[in-house]
Amino acid sequence: MGTEFLRLPAYAKINLSLEVLGKRDDGYHEICTIMQTVDLADELMISPANQLEVLCDDPDLSGDHNIVWDAAVALAAYGGIEPKGRIRVNKRIPTAAGLGGGSADAAAALRGLNHLWHLGLTNEQLRSVAASLGSDVPFLVEGGAASGTGRGDVLKQMTSRGGLPVLLVTPAESISKKTPTMYASLTPRDYSDGMHTHGLAGSNELAAGTITSDLCHNVFARAALEIYPGISDVWQATAAIAEHAPCLSGAGPTFFCMPSDEEEHDKVAEALRDSGAKVFLTRTTNAMQAV
Ligand code: C5P
Repeated sequence: MGTEFLRLPAYAKINLSLEVLGKRDDGYHEICTIMQTVDLADELMISPANQLEVLCDDPDLSGDHNIVWDAAVALAAYGGIEPKGRIRVNKRIPTAAGLGGGSADAAAALRGLNHLWHLGLTNEQLRSVAASLGSDVPFLVEGGAASGTGRGDVLKQMTSRGGLPVLLVTPAESISKKTPTMYASLTPRDYSDGMHTHGLAGSNELAAGTITSDLCHNVFARAALEIYPGISDVWQATAAIAEHAPCLSGAGPTFFCMPSDEEEHDKVAEALRDSGAKVFLTRTTNAMQAV
Protein backbone atom coordinates (compact mmCIF):
# COMPACT_ATOMS: atom_id res chain seq x y z
CA MET A 1 0.00 0.00 0.00
CA GLY A 2 1.35 3.48 -0.90
CA THR A 3 1.70 6.37 1.47
CA GLU A 4 -1.66 7.03 3.04
CA PHE A 5 -2.86 10.55 3.61
CA LEU A 6 -6.22 11.19 5.17
CA ARG A 7 -8.11 14.44 5.35
CA LEU A 8 -11.07 14.49 7.73
CA PRO A 9 -13.57 17.14 8.74
CA ALA A 10 -14.28 17.47 12.45
CA TYR A 11 -17.73 19.03 12.66
CA ALA A 12 -18.84 21.23 15.55
CA LYS A 13 -21.99 20.40 17.51
CA ILE A 14 -24.76 22.41 19.07
CA ASN A 15 -27.08 21.29 21.85
CA LEU A 16 -30.71 21.68 20.84
CA SER A 17 -31.63 20.78 24.38
CA LEU A 18 -29.47 20.41 27.47
CA GLU A 19 -30.92 19.55 30.86
CA VAL A 20 -29.16 18.54 34.05
CA LEU A 21 -31.13 16.07 36.16
CA GLY A 22 -28.79 16.07 39.15
CA LYS A 23 -25.33 15.43 40.50
CA ARG A 24 -23.79 11.96 40.44
CA ASP A 25 -21.49 10.29 42.94
CA ASP A 26 -18.58 10.28 40.47
CA GLY A 27 -18.41 14.10 40.28
CA TYR A 28 -20.23 14.27 36.94
CA HIS A 29 -23.79 15.43 36.36
CA GLU A 30 -26.56 13.32 34.91
CA ILE A 31 -27.70 15.07 31.75
CA CYS A 32 -30.37 14.74 29.11
CA THR A 33 -29.47 16.40 25.80
CA ILE A 34 -30.02 16.48 22.05
CA MET A 35 -26.94 17.21 19.98
CA GLN A 36 -26.67 18.06 16.30
CA THR A 37 -23.58 18.54 14.13
CA VAL A 38 -23.22 21.65 11.97
CA ASP A 39 -20.84 22.23 9.06
CA LEU A 40 -18.39 24.51 10.87
CA ALA A 41 -15.42 22.15 10.99
CA ASP A 42 -11.81 21.78 11.99
CA GLU A 43 -9.71 19.78 9.56
CA LEU A 44 -7.43 16.88 10.41
CA MET A 45 -4.74 15.59 8.10
CA ILE A 46 -3.28 12.26 9.08
CA SER A 47 -0.26 10.55 7.54
CA PRO A 48 2.15 7.78 8.55
CA ALA A 49 5.21 8.66 10.68
CA ASN A 50 7.71 6.83 12.88
CA GLN A 51 6.42 8.45 16.03
CA LEU A 52 3.39 10.38 17.18
CA GLU A 53 3.29 14.04 16.17
CA VAL A 54 0.43 16.48 16.65
CA LEU A 55 0.80 19.82 14.91
CA CYS A 56 -1.81 22.54 15.14
CA ASP A 57 -2.11 25.91 13.38
CA ASP A 58 -2.76 27.29 16.87
CA PRO A 59 0.74 26.79 18.34
CA ASP A 60 -0.69 26.61 21.86
CA LEU A 61 -2.43 23.40 20.81
CA SER A 62 0.51 21.54 19.26
CA GLY A 63 2.03 18.47 20.91
CA ASP A 64 0.93 16.29 23.78
CA HIS A 65 -1.50 18.74 25.37
CA ASN A 66 -3.90 18.45 22.44
CA ILE A 67 -6.77 16.03 23.10
CA VAL A 68 -5.93 14.52 19.69
CA TRP A 69 -2.72 13.21 21.25
CA ASP A 70 -4.71 11.54 24.03
CA ALA A 71 -7.06 10.07 21.43
CA ALA A 72 -4.14 8.52 19.52
CA VAL A 73 -2.60 7.09 22.70
CA ALA A 74 -5.95 5.68 23.92
CA LEU A 75 -6.79 4.12 20.53
CA ALA A 76 -3.34 2.54 20.19
CA ALA A 77 -3.63 1.08 23.70
CA TYR A 78 -7.06 -0.31 22.82
CA GLY A 79 -5.64 -1.88 19.65
CA GLY A 80 -2.49 -3.11 21.39
CA ILE A 81 -0.12 -1.18 19.10
CA GLU A 82 2.32 1.76 19.29
CA PRO A 83 0.81 5.18 18.48
CA LYS A 84 2.62 6.36 15.35
CA GLY A 85 1.42 8.99 12.93
CA ARG A 86 1.52 12.68 12.04
CA ILE A 87 -1.70 14.56 12.70
CA ARG A 88 -2.15 18.15 11.58
CA VAL A 89 -5.10 20.03 13.01
CA ASN A 90 -6.41 23.20 11.39
CA LYS A 91 -8.69 24.96 13.85
CA ARG A 92 -11.79 26.72 12.59
CA ILE A 93 -14.10 25.99 15.52
CA PRO A 94 -13.57 28.48 18.38
CA THR A 95 -11.99 26.67 21.34
CA ALA A 96 -13.74 26.21 24.68
CA ALA A 97 -16.83 27.75 23.15
CA GLY A 98 -19.59 25.18 23.72
CA LEU A 99 -19.24 23.78 20.19
CA GLY A 100 -17.31 20.62 21.05
CA GLY A 101 -14.29 21.62 18.96
CA GLY A 102 -11.65 19.64 20.86
CA SER A 103 -14.04 16.70 21.20
CA ALA A 104 -14.70 16.77 17.44
CA ASP A 105 -10.94 16.71 16.76
CA ALA A 106 -10.52 13.73 19.11
CA ALA A 107 -13.39 11.86 17.44
CA ALA A 108 -12.02 12.57 13.95
CA ALA A 109 -8.58 11.33 15.08
CA LEU A 110 -10.17 8.06 16.27
CA ARG A 111 -11.91 7.59 12.92
CA GLY A 112 -8.80 8.45 10.91
CA LEU A 113 -6.32 6.44 12.96
CA ASN A 114 -8.66 3.42 12.98
CA HIS A 115 -8.25 3.53 9.21
CA LEU A 116 -4.51 4.35 9.10
CA TRP A 117 -3.68 1.60 11.58
CA HIS A 118 -6.03 -0.94 9.93
CA LEU A 119 -7.67 -1.66 13.28
CA GLY A 120 -11.09 -2.31 11.77
CA LEU A 121 -12.92 -1.16 14.91
CA THR A 122 -16.65 -0.54 14.74
CA ASN A 123 -18.13 2.85 15.61
CA GLU A 124 -19.36 1.27 18.84
CA GLN A 125 -15.80 0.29 19.76
CA LEU A 126 -14.56 3.76 18.80
CA ARG A 127 -17.26 5.27 21.03
CA SER A 128 -16.04 3.23 23.99
CA VAL A 129 -12.52 4.63 23.52
CA ALA A 130 -14.07 8.07 22.97
CA ALA A 131 -15.88 7.96 26.32
CA SER A 132 -12.51 7.91 28.11
CA LEU A 133 -11.57 11.19 26.39
CA GLY A 134 -14.60 13.32 27.27
CA SER A 135 -18.38 13.27 27.57
CA ASP A 136 -19.02 14.79 24.10
CA VAL A 137 -16.52 12.68 22.17
CA PRO A 138 -18.69 9.52 21.68
CA PHE A 139 -21.43 11.53 19.95
CA LEU A 140 -18.93 13.11 17.56
CA VAL A 141 -17.67 9.74 16.31
CA GLU A 142 -20.79 9.64 14.09
CA GLY A 143 -22.39 13.04 14.56
CA GLY A 144 -25.72 13.80 12.92
CA ALA A 145 -28.38 14.16 15.60
CA ALA A 146 -28.65 12.09 18.75
CA SER A 147 -30.06 12.22 22.23
CA GLY A 148 -27.58 11.74 25.03
CA THR A 149 -28.14 10.62 28.61
CA GLY A 150 -25.77 9.63 31.42
CA ARG A 151 -22.76 11.96 31.11
CA GLY A 152 -23.97 12.64 27.56
CA ASP A 153 -22.29 9.46 26.35
CA VAL A 154 -25.30 7.11 26.27
CA LEU A 155 -26.54 7.84 22.78
CA LYS A 156 -29.59 7.27 20.67
CA GLN A 157 -29.29 8.36 17.06
CA MET A 158 -32.15 10.54 15.78
CA THR A 159 -33.46 11.47 12.35
CA SER A 160 -32.91 15.12 11.50
CA ARG A 161 -32.98 17.28 8.40
CA GLY A 162 -29.59 18.40 7.14
CA GLY A 163 -29.00 21.80 5.58
CA LEU A 164 -30.95 23.93 8.06
CA PRO A 165 -29.19 27.29 8.42
CA VAL A 166 -27.96 27.99 11.95
CA LEU A 167 -26.45 31.29 13.08
CA LEU A 168 -23.68 30.83 15.65
CA VAL A 169 -22.47 33.71 17.80
CA THR A 170 -19.35 33.17 19.93
CA PRO A 171 -18.70 36.07 22.33
CA ALA A 172 -15.02 36.94 22.69
CA GLU A 173 -14.66 36.27 26.38
CA SER A 174 -14.49 32.86 27.97
CA ILE A 175 -13.49 31.79 31.45
CA SER A 176 -10.81 29.41 32.67
CA LYS A 177 -11.74 25.80 33.47
CA LYS A 178 -14.97 26.61 31.72
CA THR A 179 -16.94 23.35 31.74
CA PRO A 180 -16.31 22.34 35.38
CA THR A 181 -16.88 25.96 36.48
CA MET A 182 -20.20 26.12 34.66
CA TYR A 183 -21.36 22.78 36.09
CA ALA A 184 -20.29 23.88 39.57
CA SER A 185 -22.30 27.09 39.24
CA LEU A 186 -25.58 25.19 38.84
CA THR A 187 -27.90 24.94 41.79
CA PRO A 188 -30.66 22.35 42.26
CA ARG A 189 -33.10 25.01 41.09
CA ASP A 190 -31.49 24.77 37.64
CA TYR A 191 -32.12 21.02 37.50
CA SER A 192 -35.09 19.61 35.58
CA ASP A 193 -36.59 16.21 34.85
CA GLY A 194 -35.66 15.74 31.18
CA MET A 195 -39.20 16.36 29.96
CA HIS A 196 -38.11 19.21 27.72
CA THR A 197 -35.61 16.98 25.93
CA HIS A 198 -38.05 14.04 25.76
CA GLY A 199 -40.73 16.38 24.37
CA LEU A 200 -38.43 17.60 21.61
CA ALA A 201 -37.16 14.09 20.90
CA GLY A 202 -40.74 12.79 20.68
CA SER A 203 -41.89 15.57 18.38
CA ASN A 204 -41.49 15.57 14.64
CA GLU A 205 -39.73 18.96 14.56
CA LEU A 206 -36.20 17.65 14.06
CA ALA A 207 -37.06 15.11 11.36
CA ALA A 208 -39.35 17.56 9.57
CA GLY A 209 -36.81 20.37 9.73
CA THR A 210 -39.30 22.67 11.46
CA ILE A 211 -37.26 23.04 14.64
CA THR A 212 -36.52 26.62 15.70
CA SER A 213 -34.23 27.88 18.44
CA ASP A 214 -37.32 29.17 20.30
CA LEU A 215 -38.07 25.50 21.09
CA CYS A 216 -34.54 24.85 22.34
CA HIS A 217 -33.47 24.93 25.97
CA ASN A 218 -30.18 25.04 27.88
CA VAL A 219 -29.68 24.58 31.63
CA PHE A 220 -26.66 26.89 31.62
CA ALA A 221 -28.51 29.93 30.21
CA ARG A 222 -28.99 31.59 33.61
CA ALA A 223 -25.45 30.95 34.82
CA ALA A 224 -23.93 31.95 31.47
CA LEU A 225 -25.54 35.39 31.53
CA GLU A 226 -24.18 35.89 35.05
CA ILE A 227 -20.71 34.45 34.56
CA TYR A 228 -19.41 35.29 31.08
CA PRO A 229 -18.23 38.89 30.96
CA GLY A 230 -19.96 40.83 28.20
CA ILE A 231 -22.22 38.02 26.99
CA SER A 232 -25.45 39.76 27.85
CA ASP A 233 -24.80 42.74 25.52
CA VAL A 234 -23.91 40.39 22.67
CA TRP A 235 -26.96 38.23 23.43
CA GLN A 236 -29.34 41.19 23.51
CA ALA A 237 -27.94 42.74 20.33
CA THR A 238 -28.44 39.42 18.55
CA ALA A 239 -31.92 38.84 20.01
CA ALA A 240 -33.00 42.29 18.80
CA ILE A 241 -32.16 41.33 15.21
CA ALA A 242 -32.75 37.57 14.91
CA GLU A 243 -36.17 36.21 14.07
CA HIS A 244 -35.74 33.30 16.49
CA ALA A 245 -34.64 33.60 20.13
CA PRO A 246 -31.00 32.71 20.88
CA CYS A 247 -30.25 29.48 22.73
CA LEU A 248 -26.94 28.69 24.45
CA SER A 249 -24.88 25.73 23.18
CA GLY A 250 -23.14 23.40 25.63
CA ALA A 251 -21.70 25.29 28.59
CA GLY A 252 -21.39 28.37 26.37
CA PRO A 253 -20.47 31.03 25.60
CA THR A 254 -21.63 30.29 22.01
CA PHE A 255 -25.35 30.70 21.35
CA PHE A 256 -27.32 29.97 18.20
CA CYS A 257 -30.44 31.14 16.37
CA MET A 258 -32.22 28.85 13.93
CA PRO A 259 -33.36 28.88 11.26
CA SER A 260 -31.38 31.87 10.09
CA ASP A 261 -30.23 33.24 6.74
CA GLU A 262 -27.50 35.32 5.14
CA GLU A 263 -29.31 38.60 5.63
CA GLU A 264 -29.69 37.95 9.34
CA HIS A 265 -26.06 36.84 9.57
CA ASP A 266 -24.87 40.06 7.92
CA LYS A 267 -26.99 42.26 10.19
CA VAL A 268 -25.83 40.49 13.35
CA ALA A 269 -22.19 40.53 12.21
CA GLU A 270 -22.45 44.27 11.55
CA ALA A 271 -24.08 44.95 14.94
CA LEU A 272 -21.36 42.92 16.71
CA ARG A 273 -18.44 44.28 14.64
CA ASP A 274 -16.75 45.98 17.58
CA SER A 275 -17.63 43.37 20.20
CA GLY A 276 -14.97 40.82 19.23
CA ALA A 277 -17.70 38.17 18.87
CA LYS A 278 -17.38 35.66 16.03
CA VAL A 279 -20.49 35.16 13.89
CA PHE A 280 -20.94 32.15 11.59
CA LEU A 281 -23.74 31.05 9.30
CA THR A 282 -23.61 27.24 9.34
CA ARG A 283 -25.92 24.40 8.30
CA THR A 284 -26.96 21.28 10.13
CA THR A 285 -25.08 18.33 8.71
CA ASN A 286 -25.61 14.61 9.06
CA ALA A 287 -22.83 13.55 6.72
CA MET A 288 -19.86 12.29 8.69
CA GLN A 289 -17.33 11.59 5.97
CA ALA A 290 -16.35 7.95 6.03
CA VAL A 291 -12.67 7.15 5.50
O1 C5P B 1 -16.29 14.92 30.18
P1 C5P B 1 -15.55 16.21 30.12
O2 C5P B 1 -14.06 16.01 30.24
O3 C5P B 1 -15.93 17.05 28.96
O4 C5P B 1 -16.00 16.99 31.42
C1 C5P B 1 -15.30 18.07 31.95
C2 C5P B 1 -15.84 18.40 33.32
O5 C5P B 1 -17.18 18.89 33.20
C3 C5P B 1 -15.93 17.22 34.26
O6 C5P B 1 -14.73 17.03 34.96
C4 C5P B 1 -17.06 17.64 35.19
O7 C5P B 1 -16.60 18.57 36.15
C5 C5P B 1 -17.98 18.40 34.27
N1 C5P B 1 -19.06 17.56 33.73
C6 C5P B 1 -20.12 17.20 34.55
N2 C5P B 1 -21.13 16.42 34.05
C7 C5P B 1 -21.13 16.02 32.75
C8 C5P B 1 -20.07 16.40 31.88
C9 C5P B 1 -19.06 17.18 32.41
O8 C5P B 1 -20.13 17.54 35.73
N3 C5P B 1 -22.16 15.29 32.29
